[in-house]
Amino acid sequence: MRRTRGVLAMTAAAAMLLALSACGDDNGGGGGGGGQADKEVEVFTWWTGPGEGEGLAALIAEFEKQNSGVKFTNAAVAGGSGTQARQALATRLLANQPPDSYQLHAGQEAASDIKDGRLEDVTYLYERNGWKDKFPKGLLDAITVDGKIYTVPVNIHRSNLLWYNPAKLKEWGIAAPPKTWSEFLTQAATLKAKGVKPMSVGQTWTQMHLLENVLLGELGADKYKGLWNGSTDWAGADVISALDMFKQVMAVSEVTTQDWQPEAKKVLDGTAAYNVMGDWLDAYAGRDQKKTYGTEYASVATPGSEGVYNFLSDSFTLPKGAPHKGAAEKWLTLCGSTAGQDLFNPQKGSVPARTDADKSKYKGYLETALKDWQNSSTTIVGSLVHGVTANNAWKSEIEKAYGVFFQDKDSMKFANAVKTAYSSVGK
Ligand code: GAL
Repeated sequence: MRRTRGVLAMTAAAAMLLALSACGDDNGGGGGGGGQADKEVEVFTWWTGPGEGEGLAALIAEFEKQNSGVKFTNAAVAGGSGTQARQALATRLLANQPPDSYQLHAGQEAASDIKDGRLEDVTYLYERNGWKDKFPKGLLDAITVDGKIYTVPVNIHRSNLLWYNPAKLKEWGIAAPPKTWSEFLTQAATLKAKGVKPMSVGQTWTQMHLLENVLLGELGADKYKGLWNGSTDWAGADVISALDMFKQVMAVSEVTTQDWQPEAKKVLDGTAAYNVMGDWLDAYAGRDQKKTYGTEYASVATPGSEGVYNFLSDSFTLPKGAPHKGAAEKWLTLCGSTAGQDLFNPQKGSVPARTDADKSKYKGYLETALKDWQNSSTTIVGSLVHGVTANNAWKSEIEKAYGVFFQDKDSMKFANAVKTAYSSVGK
């Protein structure tokens, strides 16, 4: 989707509505689910590690300040991209023991849970708080089914970033990060000759994160989008050649089974030249590792994806059967408020999902991210790994096929497996 941001301008009526509702809900008042007396709330995420926990901690502190009588239980399960958390959550949901709110990606991941009947419709929170024109329309569309909105987006992350250490690149004689994946391979040869690891890559989800961005760079935004709606043939020559490029990139990378932080650290420490990761890396490098953006670490769009924002959005839900609905509504109200988003996002390495947040709070990398996100000529595409483009069933088939691809390196077999799975469960 190509986005025009003018649509999101605040109307006078909406502004008034927001002002009227702000006193009640943005300050944590008014439950609405009969849960006024809730004395606790349990919130489930995968934000525990360095660079992940700080944003959540800022939101929790604000929640506790606003709701002193409500005990907050942080039910985070560690592990980047929620691989472990989603399994733990699935077990709880199956046992009919939902938390009061859980983290979910906008897009097909949300659509899967909506379809499975796991989520309450929270349109009333949008109406009560005057939120409907405070979020990009395309984002609301990604969490709406039959006119009902099901989640509250707290941020926008960018997946397609190539991170590097400017001083180290210079030291190794590299003038600038690569603009194409072929150029990356050329640089990799130079780096290897100097004994430098060209790229650090970690456990499976980080490999697939790299894969989606090699596909994006090699195919371009339109064909990349087509991968997810059936209009680009996975078994076509251009996709096979992009998969072959991915194999070459992996072949010159150091691939481990670690989570994203230790792999990012190699770039910060100058033991690897590049790392492809989402902008939560900014939170890790800037806040946890205390590095300065621009001099000690920097990022550009992954090769071939300049002008494209491969987006994902973390949102929070009200699961059916949530034991403390009133308190969950207070949590969701904080997540959707400008105050909540401006506390959370500068710590999280993401930009606010709301369009009316306070720009002055976003510095360094985040200042450019916000400009790029709000630039009407930016092309927006969605992330596979982070829940935007494939429903849960198809994504799980793609993950299985990737496991085989990792071993046998057969691009055509992988492409055909993804294509077949699309026909059976992806549509
Ligand atoms: C994403 C999530 C981000 C960040 C990342 C690494 O799926 O949306 O907020 O946590 O995983 O764990």
